[in-house]
Formats: sequence, C-alpha cells, structure tokens
Amino acid sequence: MCADDLSVYEAIRLRRDVRAEFTGDIVDDATLWRILEAAHQAPSVGNSQPWDFVVVRDPATLRKFADHVAGKRVEFRNALPPERAATFDPIKIEGITESGTGIVVSYDHGRGGPQILGRATVPETGIYSTVLAIENLWLAATAEGVGVGWVSFYDPAFLTGLVGLPEGIRPVAWLCVGPVHRFQRSPDLERFGWRTRRPLTDAVHRETYHG
Ligand SMILES: Cc1cc2nc3c(=O)[nH]c(=O)nc-3n(C[C@H](O)[C@H](O)[C@H](O)COP(=O)(O)O)c2cc1C
Repeated sequence: MCADDLSVYEAIRLRRDVRAEFTGDIVDDATLWRILEAAHQAPSVGNSQPWDFVVVRDPATLRKFADHVAGKRVEFRNALPPERAATFDPIKIEGITESGTGIVVSYDHGRGGPQILGRATVPETGIYSTVLAIENLWLAATAEGVGVGWVSFYDPAFLTGLVGLPEGIRPVAWLCVGPVHRFQRSPDLERFGWRTRRPLTDAVHRETYHG
C-alpha cells in the first residue's frame, strides 16, 4: 500500500488501533520517516511544534516497557467489577514487542518561549497540538499499510525515565508501530463487547449543547 493510493476519507475509515495484527516485521526506515514527516506537518498553537518523537527499537527496552504495562493492566483489571473484568480479560491492550518499534511522543510546554500565540487562555492547546501530530502519524501509517496502537497503560514517571525525557518534557503516548497482516473492520473494543461507537446524531448539537 502507498500513501498516494488512499483518499483521506479512506485512510480515516481504514485506521484502527492495532494490537494483534502486527506481522513481526520491522517498518523500514524510509516508510517510518514519511510517517514522521506527516506527524511533523501537524498544525500547532502559535506554530510552537511542541512534539518530539523517540523511536525505540532496542528489544530490552521494549520488553521493560511491556512488563511495566502488564503490571498496570493487572491493576486496572483488579479494580473492575467481576462482570466487567470478565469482558476485559480477553482484550489485548498492546503490541509492544510484536510491533518491533515504539514511538514515544512527548510534549515540551517550554518550546517557543512563554508567549505562545493562542495559548494564553487555553494552556491545553499545546497538548492538543501534540495529539494532532499523533493523528497525522496514525493516518499516514494507515495509508502505508502500517499499524499503530496507542498504549496509555503506563506510569508517566516510568516512561520518562525509560527513554530519558529531560525535566519538563512530558510523555503523551507510546505508539506501537509496525506492518500489519490486515486492519480489523471494527474496533477491538466493539468486537469484544467493551464499548460501542456512539451514533453521530448523538454527538452533534444545534446552537447549544442541549439542542
Ligand atoms: C488517548 C488514547 C489512549 C489509548 N490507550 C490505549 C491503550 O492503552 N490500550 C489499547 O489497547 N488501546 C488504547 N487506545 C485505543 C482505543 O481503545 C481505540 O482507539 C478505540 O477503542 C477505538 O478503536 P479504533 O481506534 O480501532 O477505532 C487509546 C486511544 C487513545 C486515543
């Protein structure tokens, strides 16, 4: 698959959070670079570009992170009521070692100095910008036939230490990135009965939130 083959709507429809479909091959460097270029073209508040991408391929680091996430999964599972725990048990929540590549996306609130045009009244706009870079990355990867799985079952301090983020740089995501056999047609969480998508008509309001 190649980026030129898909319209943006097709990439949006095809995109999935991938956990179980990684082939075990490593995404090649040229493809990875195109995907990162797409991420780096995201809009950002005040053009601050507050993101960085740490590409992790050392198997020992992937293993350490996977072990940490496994512990967090157990904590989450044990806090669920029994019926939800039974629904959760078969759900895979990461493909850290299988994907072979992790990308830690981080956020630097200090990038661009204190006067960020557009961030004065809404400080979260910096994080919003970083997340837009992630969505660009996700869609570009999809167009390349490369899967992305967002992992957030981690203690931010642990991930900060694992990849050596400097003081003041926050981790926003661990993305598992790798070639896939296929993209599922529906989200795992729907297929496993955890939560379904809301109809668009429930999400769209007219004039006020209550409209
Ligand atoms: C901020 C964020 C954090 C997420 N964290 C996890 C995670 O830790 N583990 C996981 O399996 N999926 C995670 N996901 C993926 C969601 O479960 C997934 O996007 C959702 O179920 C919809 O499925 P789809 O992306 O295939 O459409 C995360 C997604 C987002 C946007």
